[in-house]
Amino acid sequence: MSKLIEVRDLKKHFRVRGMLGRTRVVHSVDGVSFDIERGETFGLVGESGCGKTTLGRTVTRLYEPTSGQILFEGTDIAPLKGRALSPYKRRMQTIFQDPYSSLNPYMNVEEIVGE
Ligand SMILES: Nc1ncnc2c1ncn2[C@@H]1O[C@H](COP(=O)(O)OP(=O)(O)O)[C@@H](O)[C@H]1O
Ligand SMILES: [Mg+2]
Repeated sequence: MSKLIEVRDLKKHFRVRGMLGRTRVVHSVDGVSFDIERGETFGLVGESGCGKTTLGRTVTRLYEPTSGQILFEGTDIAPLKGRALSPYKRRMQTIFQDPYSSLNPYMNVEEIVGE
């Protein structure tokens, strides 16, 4: 199989203003690596706040990565900006969670996951 996405040591840190005007750095994504093959469905699981959403937004370049590589069909899109990114953004699509349309209240969790 050919690789569609190769993420290498990806980091996304946010600088946030804390108490008393001090700034601190939140390490939302801190050294993540994985590959996604063409046609593969890749599941990312983790507790709330572990960085899943930030990772997704960074890989799809809604966020600028702090460091690391995001190879899209072999091209590193991590350092690209503006117009250089648009051919890649056209080929990536986020499907936002909608629990009301994706979860059937008449089914239990086992049935929903099984389906
Ligand atoms: N824009 C942001 N600025 C500062 N901190 C953020 C921002 N977005 C997310 N975080 C922090 O990064 C961590 C990971 O958040 P998130 O990616 O939303 O986790 P998950 O989707 O796994 O629940 C959390 O500690 C969250 O508070
Ligand atoms: Mg999330």
